[in-house]
Amino acid sequence: MTFQAFSEQRAKQLAEKDRVCILALETSCDETAAAVVENGRIIRSNVVFSQIDLHALYGGVVPEIASRAHMEACDRVVDEALRQAGMTLREVDALAVTRGPGLVGALLTGVNCMKGLAFSAEKPLIGVHHIEGHVSANYLTYPDLEPPFLCLVVSGGHSHLVEVADYGVYRLLGQTVDDAAGEAFDKAARVLGLPYPGGPRIDALAEEGNPLAFSLPSPRTGGRYDTSFSGLKTAFLNLVHTLEQRGEPLPKADLAASFRRAVCGELTEKTRRLLTDRLAEGHPPRAMAMAGGVSANRELRRMMSSLCDELGVPLRMPEIALCTDNGAMIGSAAYYQLRKGDLADLSLNAEPSLRLAERV
Ligand code: KG4
Ligand code: ZN
Repeated sequence: MTFQAFSEQRAKQLAEKDRVCILALETSCDETAAAVVENGRIIRSNVVFSQIDLHALYGGVVPEIASRAHMEACDRVVDEALRQAGMTLREVDALAVTRGPGLVGALLTGVNCMKGLAFSAEKPLIGVHHIEGHVSANYLTYPDLEPPFLCLVVSGGHSHLVEVADYGVYRLLGQTVDDAAGEAFDKAARVLGLPYPGGPRIDALAEEGNPLAFSLPSPRTGGRYDTSFSGLKTAFLNLVHTLEQRGEPLPKADLAASFRRAVCGELTEKTRRLLTDRLAEGHPPRAMAMAGGVSANRELRRMMSSLCDELGVPLRMPEIALCTDNGAMIGSAAYYQLRKGDLADLSLNAEPSLRLAERV
């Protein structure tokens, strides 16, 4: 029997099973992460091995270093996830891995590792979209959350407003016309001389600063729900250079707070437009969710909370540890793919530029 025929048969058997445990691996960027997730909702283990120290020296992720580090860490991280879940490879029901988007070498390492394990242990394999994983982190934090809902996806490479119409069904409503929100935070941090990764550093520093100390321009975009961060980034760069030329010490906390306020303001403003439009059309969203590394940002969480409170829309935010890259979110997304019979075969490949959804 071919691997594919075997996987399909096994997936049908799993449809009858009450408890399905998936071992998932995430290696799309700079975290080697593995987890065991039960029924898409319960985290049995979640192990994240961060490569930050390896890349910090270079001020950003170095793709070759990332691939090599994933290769060295994969087996250990997978073993640790199984150990913490109290399971053996034989006992898990299926395997999942991020197939894209991300760094090609980093993705390939994970894809090949899981293809090898799936073949040797005779387990069905599921290839997961990284951003679908981020969205699914909400299912882990809110066991009762079900589509449809709206989601603000904000990571190092994405700033999307999407409608999650069903499991695995997304409609792209708005997106950044230039940089992603996380990228903007990382660049601003570099300008302030903060180490990589910049987003969390800016966030921490901003807590001590005055967000009204400096005013930055409001971005302009064509699409109603689109965002833009490159103008903000340039204005910030010019502001910092002007202050530096005065030869005085930089008020870094005030600068961080002002920049954070501007980025979060842009994201919240476009979310406000979407929510008010839906309410005006008589289609109040069941929930507004957040996903991706930037959804860990304290100011963004506060601003989105007050927006949703004001409009009476339930807000769903993954717990902080599940906002950034992890294996559990991949295990959650994989469960719903498995239920649809959306399985990978041994031709599964890394897809560095995979899209989540086409624009509507
Ligand atoms: O989702 P993620 O872990 O990886 C990608 O899929 O890109 O997001 C990483 C991004 C980085 O740009 C990082 O600086 C940003 O998320 N980030 C934050 C915070 N935590 C992570 N940005 C702002 N505030 C934070 N607290
Ligand atoms: Zn991510």
